[in-house]
Amino acid sequence: MNLKGRSFLTLKDFTPEEIQYLIDLAADLKAKKKKGITGQSLKGKNIALIFEKPSTRTRCAFSVACNDEGGFHEYLGRSEIQLGSKESVKDTARVLGRMFDAIEFRGFSHKHVEMLAQYSGVPVWNGLTDEYHPTQILADFLTLQEHFGYLKGLNFVYMGDGRNNMANSLMIGCGKMGVNCTIIAPKELWPNEEIVGQSREYSAAAGSVITITDDISAVKGADCVYTDVWCSMGEEEKAAERVSLLRPYQVNAQVMETTGKDSSVFMHCLPAVKGNEVTEDVFEADYSIVFDEAENRMHTIKAVMVATLGE
Ligand code: CP
Ligand code: NVA
Repeated sequence: MNLKGRSFLTLKDFTPEEIQYLIDLAADLKAKKKKGITGQSLKGKNIALIFEKPSTRTRCAFSVACNDEGGFHEYLGRSEIQLGSKESVKDTARVLGRMFDAIEFRGFSHKHVEMLAQYSGVPVWNGLTDEYHPTQILADFLTLQEHFGYLKGLNFVYMGDGRNNMANSLMIGCGKMGVNCTIIAPKELWPNEEIVGQSREYSAAAGSVITITDDISAVKGADCVYTDVWCSMGEEEKAAERVSLLRPYQVNAQVMETTGKDSSVFMHCLPAVKGNEVTEDVFEADYSIVFDEAENRMHTIKAVMVATLGE
């Protein structure tokens, strides 16, 4: 499998085999790191990390993964770069592309990450935009694969804001990998029809089903119950409205009971607002695998960097 020189903007651009390759490469890099073995695959590579929005996991995953593989990274925070304000995204892309071997971008506009990829001439990795969060999905799928031993045919349920970057990327990822995906959300927050349509095309090819419903009892049979914050970064003014809309969609012990399976797990991309989208007891339960998931951000991001840029 050769992914050299490719950008990683959404999972739409990758085949199921390529996605599986990245997950398996991450598992391999993880096993090596546990034995104290790191590589030099990014030796001599200079990597720009642009963060318009804050981050704990994604920033640290890129920094540590880069360091583990012998590369150099430069953090460019919102107040340290003129991106899109005093300097156009197109010009910034062309400047950074002359200096760096790859660029990670976390920000608001998905158009901006696409422009960086179009004009920089180097691989660009999406560390989250308003629309998509694809590196998170690799970590989620590595975690599910570690836990269940397989992905295809798992019943995955996402409850909460069905229109955000996580819901979009999870639907696409599940469609690609043949995971059955049920989005449980109030009608006002159902996903964009175009993304549902695309995901259904992928799932038809992979043999799984994508379901959108506002019926909480659809959690029955779930192998994994997943949620995310009710207000994503940049939507802070919607907090009150979201709490009243989404309160019935909280993942609590009753919801986990309704899966009808003792083997169901709870997942969350984090950071979590406990008492909103998830209760403290579910978050802390034995079936919650959120910290395996958080750790796997690093191994999967390393796999993306090594596969697209590494020697
Ligand atoms: N899950 C995730 O992307 O976390 P951060 O916002 O901390 O990077
Ligand atoms: N939907 C969340 C994901 C955080 C990782 C946000 O965009 O804030």
